[in-house]
Amino acid sequence: MNHPGNAGELKDYPKEIILKDGTGVTIRPVREGDEKGLLEMFKHFPESELWFLDHDLSDPGYIHDWVMNLELKREISIIALLEGRIIANTVLRMKNFGAESHIGRLKFSVAPSFRDKGLGTWMLLDIINLAISRGLQMLVIHLEQDREPSIINWIKKFNFHEEAVLENYLSDREGNFHNLVVMTKRLYLEWDDIY
Ligand SMILES: CC(C)(COP(=O)(O)OP(=O)(O)OC[C@H]1O[C@@H](n2cnc3c(N)ncnc32)[C@H](O)[C@@H]1OP(=O)(O)O)[C@@H](O)C(=O)NCCC(=O)NCCS
Repeated sequence: MNHPGNAGELKDYPKEIILKDGTGVTIRPVREGDEKGLLEMFKHFPESELWFLDHDLSDPGYIHDWVMNLELKREISIIALLEGRIIANTVLRMKNFGAESHIGRLKFSVAPSFRDKGLGTWMLLDIINLAISRGLQMLVIHLEQDREPSIINWIKKFNFHEEAVLENYLSDREGNFHNLVVMTKRLYLEWDDIY
């Protein structure tokens, strides 16, 4: 399959990382054949989290279409594997035309039983590096304000800041509205861009 894994900046994968508890995990780009593992991982997510991840990740049809069309959709997706089981996923979404083509949007998720071991931190740092090697100039993360205050504070440690709050923009499954926080990070390409 001709997927973004053929792109130059993905040549460094697979990579090995060590979690806080000493567990060794492999990270590499998503490829054809990962559909079942992704579906299995998202089965363990609470419904409320899946809702805010934007797409129906419990739908085998959606996952299949997504994995097969990553390049077409201008997405790069990285997974973490432990003994063949997928335990985390990041997605970098880009546009190849227009005023937002310098921006990447990030999504990331760690399987509930593997959280708070540093895996999210590894995955986020890795996808930020990928975005830099792609030449992107800005990253955006969308979060739901009330549900994710600890995640918002954590993301600020990576020099993301709250760019905007859209009040009552998101709707949960029950139809209640919640604020959307738009977090951004500028990726400076030259020292001159910073000073
Ligand atoms: C956000 C997420 C990826 C973090 O993954 P993780 O593997 O737990 O990340 P880390 O172990 O590196 O910890 C990240 C921070 O979250 C905190 N954290 C982890 N699990 C937590 C929990 N259950 N409750 C509160 N905080 C938690 C950690 O303390 C850490 O903060 P610190 O660096 O200030 O100590 C994970 O919680 C997740 O998948 N959430 C659901 C999907 C989501 O909301 N994605 C973000 C928007 S796209």
